Amino acid sequence: MAADTLPAENHAFRAFCYNLPMSTATRTTSLFSRNLRKEYPVAVRGEGCWIVAADGRRYLDASGQAAVVSIGHGVAEIGRAMAEQASQIAFAHTTQFHSEPAEKLAARLLAIAPRNFRNGGRVYFVSGGSEATETGIKLARQYFLESQQPSRYRVLARRQSYHGSTLGAMSVSGNVARRAPYAPLIPEWGHVAPCFCYHCPFDKTFPECKLACADDLDAFLRSNDASTVAAFVFEPVVGATLGAAPAVDGYTVRIAEICRAHGILLIADEVMTGMGRTGKPFASEHWGLEPDIILTGKGIASGYAPLGAVLVAPHIVESFEEGTASFMHGFTYQAHPVATAAGNAVFDYLEAHRLFERVTPVGETLRKALAKLENHPHVGDVRGLGLLQGVEFVKDKSTHEPFEKAAGIAEKIRQAALEKNVLVYPGQGTLDGTRGDHVLLAPPFIIKPEECELIAGALQYALSRVFSA
Ligand SMILES: Cc1ncc(COP(=O)(O)O)c(C=O)c1O
Repeated sequence: MAADTLPAENHAFRAFCYNLPMSTATRTTSLFSRNLRKEYPVAVRGEGCWIVAADGRRYLDASGQAAVVSIGHGVAEIGRAMAEQASQIAFAHTTQFHSEPAEKLAARLLAIAPRNFRNGGRVYFVSGGSEATETGIKLARQYFLESQQPSRYRVLARRQSYHGSTLGAMSVSGNVARRAPYAPLIPEWGHVAPCFCYHCPFDKTFPECKLACADDLDAFLRSNDASTVAAFVFEPVVGATLGAAPAVDGYTVRIAEICRAHGILLIADEVMTGMGRTGKPFASEHWGLEPDIILTGKGIASGYAPLGAVLVAPHIVESFEEGTASFMHGFTYQAHPVATAAGNAVFDYLEAHRLFERVTPVGETLRKALAKLENHPHVGDVRGLGLLQGVEFVKDKSTHEPFEKAAGIAEKIRQAALEKNVLVYPGQGTLDGTRGDHVLLAPPFIIKPEECELIAGALQYALSRVFSA
């Protein structure tokens, strides 16, 4: 009898079948869970914005899991497209072959990318956001080798940012909590101020601040040997770390000018914000930004397959073509035929159901529903762009003072919303990596107005529950 056909709760039976000591048999999972003290429900089915667990409980997925699911759960035609591809050719190594779905998806991505990617840009497919960041870092380094500037290798980033969990991606990430355990393993190449008006690092107000946060990059480069810097990476809307904090007008343009002036590449991390999440195919386009490299992931296959991508501007491609022509990098599963087939099927679905266009109006509907939270004495800010929105909780609304970390507000809000069967994505450390609480909302683009009301209602309930004492 296969292990997965055994009823998990039947511990004695498991022990008998597998000749296990009872202590082992009574564990309900063999997975190295995210949190070994927690019990996790088993997800068995998805239907639109809903996830159904093995016990029949239905959860409204208000965060698209982690801002991943764009077209909704359980779209059968995506599975069919993947099965069809797998039945033709499931895998061919990229040292020997290209595949049709990868070629097709690359062309489609370049067609919706900012204008500078159009004539001669290329796409490097990977299996997720962290691999995209690794690839972007190494691409920037090798670009400068190809361009005869071997001193350039550092990739600067911002404090209060997240670019992935592998060691290269961690070294650019400015997420204090996620970095802390691995500090001895990761280099510090330099972090500058985030663009975060609600807790401005300079205690200024936009627009009187004259974009002091952008100028922080220039100041850093002037005082830290810019000739060793290869690139600057940033999230146009800071997702998990700040709870959907968008760049203000003028910020990305100034950043691009500073990068050009110092001869460094600009990398937009659109792992969370790409593929329509903020109301444009890529968030960079809200400000007419033309980065040299775009990292994307999550929504590119809407969770149906592990997929990420690095979009590379033509001038970088040319430097390789004129140089070694060979990127010293690679993953076995890059540009996987079945994963890119999923990406194409998701793209077809987004186009056929006009979901790219739906994000802005539905984002406004969600925002209106959330507006009723704003009067609560502990709701400091509701912010975001399109269907990437965040709610920040503060102790003192007039000073924006956060709660102490030990109060665990974001997690308590998550748990209380769960009582109403609504899944939100909590974050702590919003202010400085330690203090500050928010929840992130990033539902599928198909979310209905009544589901937006359910989300707002669950958060209202959670506020009353958490702050009732
Ligand atoms: C902006 C950003 N970059 C990179 C990553 C890493 O992506 P992954 O978890 O797919 O490796 C994430 C994940 O949350 C992200 O939000």
